[in-house]
This record gives sequence, structure tokens and C-alpha cells, in this order.
Amino acid sequence: MIVPVILSGGSGTRLWPVSRKSYPKQFCTLLGDKSPFQETLQRIVGLGIKSAPIVVGNREHRFIMAEQLRQIEMNDDSNIVLEPLSRNSAAAMAAAAFWQAKSDEDAILWFMPADSAITDNKSLNESLLRAYEVATHDYIVMFGIQPTRPETGYGYIEQGSPIEGKNGAFHIAKFLEKPDELNAKRFLESGKYFWNSGMFMARARIFLEELRKWAPEIYDSVEKSVRLSESDSAFITLDEASFMKTPSISVDYALAEKTQRGVVVPSYFEWMDVGSWDAVWALTEKDSNGNAVSGNVFLDHTKNCYVKSDNVVATVTGVEDLVIIVTKDAVMVSHRDRAQDIKHVVELLREQG
Ligand code: GDD
Ligand code: MG
Repeated sequence: MIVPVILSGGSGTRLWPVSRKSYPKQFCTLLGDKSPFQETLQRIVGLGIKSAPIVVGNREHRFIMAEQLRQIEMNDDSNIVLEPLSRNSAAAMAAAAFWQAKSDEDAILWFMPADSAITDNKSLNESLLRAYEVATHDYIVMFGIQPTRPETGYGYIEQGSPIEGKNGAFHIAKFLEKPDELNAKRFLESGKYFWNSGMFMARARIFLEELRKWAPEIYDSVEKSVRLSESDSAFITLDEASFMKTPSISVDYALAEKTQRGVVVPSYFEWMDVGSWDAVWALTEKDSNGNAVSGNVFLDHTKNCYVKSDNVVATVTGVEDLVIIVTKDAVMVSHRDRAQDIKHVVELLREQG
């Protein structure tokens, strides 16, 4: 049995000013009429997975999650686990694993971010079947994506020896999260590395055993916060006092870099982290000049830009390779190549109140 776990607690600062702390990107309709959160859930149903998904997100967003689940008629069939505050992905995944372990600790959990764009369900399904097969042998499976550039924002997986008797699955020789530019270039050129897709598959019990080994503080505090959680018909709310004590570390540093049980399944589905405006531009249909627009936008002598203005009229002339976003209360202009850096500007803005 595969139980999907959707991690939807990220803050999405690189997609400011549309993505806000109170309404982050996974709930915004940036591409099409469904949010990435809803698309992720519908993808799972499309793959024929029958078990009710576990959604892990911030308490602040509980009504957004419930409403978006209702819109796609999945509110009755989902477990929503609420974090009283953000403690990063290792804690969020642990909460889902402890919750699942209450009823079936051998269930295979398929953890996934709420903000990846995957367009090729057939190929995803192939990877999934291979991953499931390996996960039943008590490994922690990661999905390896063929890298195309020396991206420093991803995890890199070095392929090791093949798993005996399993087609298309390999031990992980090394996992390195967010390498510096030099290493990212080296990894890309070596041809031996994959990008980590951000999805993981493992038995609840195995994930927790490994967590206890490599990150015992996370294990202990999340165990307690699930044990003391309160649940009603709509939400499972983690105990705040114990969850607060959890170290805030991503699963990549806390576990993927350390575990000896890691396996990579090389995957060939079309995958993209919808993490920045540059990615939104890449995923949106463009005119003959390479421009993608949304809302009331008029362009002249403009090339390869992404312009979004849903309220006021925006006119753009004589520029190339820019991202221009206009909302009710903010304007953001950036070079497309610098779209990742918005994160730093937003952090500065927050610090200055
Ligand atoms: N519920 C919950 N709570 N979810 C969280 C939290 C949290 O506190 N923090 C992060 N998440 C979710 C995010 O919403 C996202 O869906 C997922 O966990 C990964 O977090 P990111 O912050 O987006 O990580 P990243 O993009 O820097 O890196 C990860 O994804 C890359 C691929 O996109 C890593 O797994 C990399 O190794 C990977 O290459
Ligand atoms: Mg991400």
C-alpha cells in the first residue's frame, strides 16, 4: 500500500510578491486554474493510488488547505496534519510517519513536495513501481533526475552499485545537498550524479528508524508532538510545546546525506521545481518573441520576459529577459537570471518590518 504524503509547509519566498507568508506559492494558481497543491493531489489520483493522502502543512494555512481540497472533492479523503510552526521538512515528514505508524507502520510512504511540476505520468508511474518494489525491501528511495545545469539549489546524488535483483535501482554512493558552484559544475561534468527530485519513498517504520539513528532530537520531539496531538474530524494538530523543541533541518541534511539505506531510481519524467519566476516563465506558453504574460499586460519590442499584472494595466517596452510582477500592493522587477535572488530581498524586507 502506498500512502502519499504531501509536504505543503514551504513559504515560497522566491515567488514574491504573489506568494506571501499568509498565502504561499503551493496554494497560488500560477499555472492554469489549479494550484500546485491541487495538481499534486490530482496527479496521485490519476496514478490510481487509492489510499487517502496525508497532507502536512502549517496551522496558519488550515482553511486554505481544507478549501482547496474541497474544490477538488478530496476533503473527506485526506488527513491534514497541522504544524503549529515551521520546523522544516525532516520534522514534517516525521510527523506524517508517526501518524501513519499508529495504524500501519509498514505502509510505504511516498513523500512529495507540493510544488513540483511533473508532466509525464506514464514515466512517473514506471519510476513509482520500481521505487515501490525497492522500498518494500526496507530501503529509502530517492528519484534521480538527469541534471541539465550546475544548479546549486538542489541535492546531488552519486549513483553507486546496482541493487541485486532489482532493475533500475542503485545504491547511493554519496548525497550532497546544495553544493557550491564549483562542486555543482564538477558533478554535472562527471556524468555520475543525479539531481534529487525532492520526493522520497520508504516504509514509515524504516524512515523513523533512520531518523532515530541520525537525528534523534527530531525523532524524540516529533514523536511526542504526535502522541500529544489533538484531532477532530477535520484536522490533526501537533502538540506545540514538543514540536517547538524540534531542530529545524531539512530531510536532505538530516537524513539523505547520512543514511546507508539510500537507493536511487534513475527517472525520466519531465520534472521541474516551480520555485522561481524563471521556472514559471519556462512552464508558461510563450509568444513568438519568447514572452509569457498574465493579466492586463501590453508589450512592445520586448523579448523573453515574464510579465504578470492582474489588477492594473502594465505596459512594457524595449526590454529583454526580465520578470515583472505587479500586484495590488507591490511591484517586483528582476532579471530572469537573477530570479532566485528575490529570496534575499524578501528576507531583508521582513527584517526591516
Ligand atoms: N509541511 C512542511 N513543513 N513542509 C515543508 C516545510 C515545513 O516546515 N519546509 C519545507 N517543506 C516542504 C516544501 O513545501 C517543499 O514542498 C518541500 O518540503 C521541500 O522544501 P524546499 O524548501 O522547497 O526544499 P528545496 O527546494 O530547497 O530542496 C529540496 O527539493 C529539491 C528539489 O526541488 C531538496 O530535497 C533538494 O535535495 C531537492 O533537489
Ligand atoms: Mg523547493
